[in-house]
Amino acid sequence: MRKPIIAGNWKMHLTLAEAHALVRQLLGLDAKSVDVVICPPFTALSSVAALVKGSRIGLGAQDLFWEPQGAFTGEVSPVMLVDVGCRYVIIGHSERRTLFGETDESVNRKLVAALKHGLLPIVCIGETLAQREGHQTFHVITRQLEGAFTGIAEADGARITLAYEPVWAIGTGRNATPEQAQEVHAFIRQWLGKRFGSSLADSLRIQYGGSVNAANAASLLQQLDVDGALVGGASLKADAFGTIMKAAVEAKVKAVV
Ligand code: 13P
Repeated sequence: MRKPIIAGNWKMHLTLAEAHALVRQLLGLDAKSVDVVICPPFTALSSVAALVKGSRIGLGAQDLFWEPQGAFTGEVSPVMLVDVGCRYVIIGHSERRTLFGETDESVNRKLVAALKHGLLPIVCIGETLAQREGHQTFHVITRQLEGAFTGIAEADGARITLAYEPVWAIGTGRNATPEQAQEVHAFIRQWLGKRFGSSLADSLRIQYGGSVNAANAASLLQQLDVDGALVGGASLKADAFGTIMKAAVEAKVKAVV
């Protein structure tokens, strides 16, 4: 039984005052039986860390660079993320891949660095609309998995969460259907089984991301291989995020009964 994990990717949103107001609301939500993560922009990490300290809410960053320090203007290192109180870090988000030149190779370097410094990575993969329509989905997912996991040992693999985020579903209001999500999640788990064996494949959590909201979360999370959600827009509203958290717990309880 995999514990569901719901993560909010705030992207480039919220001033400090707005971030603090949202966190105060989130702290009032029931976060039992679900791992909850919020990923504010770098500017808010330090003060949000102070607010969530000792709570059930885990703090994550949206990206990192692989070097521990140095002359890398504009970058943030894994050492700095740990120092500021992050436990998680998103790696390889499609916006970083398409807008900022992230490659399978850089994703791998960041993943290795995050693991080395004790962070829990959330690694994003997913196909574009053209790739889906060209029947390339499984090919692209395989390439991204092979790239990301190059040189990763099974013991480290256990600390990774994957997020399947079809690019065409991100920020479009057009989520994958539960069946589409389940199909790719099952494929990912099969790949993990071949690469690492069934023990890791059964325990590694795979989130779905892309237009998850309070209304569609339950049907997505009820899918056997959907272990959580990586939420963009809806994570900026405490009530919607709370509903998604609740849907995750209820969906997994139902799956056991
Ligand atoms: P939306 O939920 O806004 O579609 O964003 C999804 C996402 O990219 C989360 O990382």
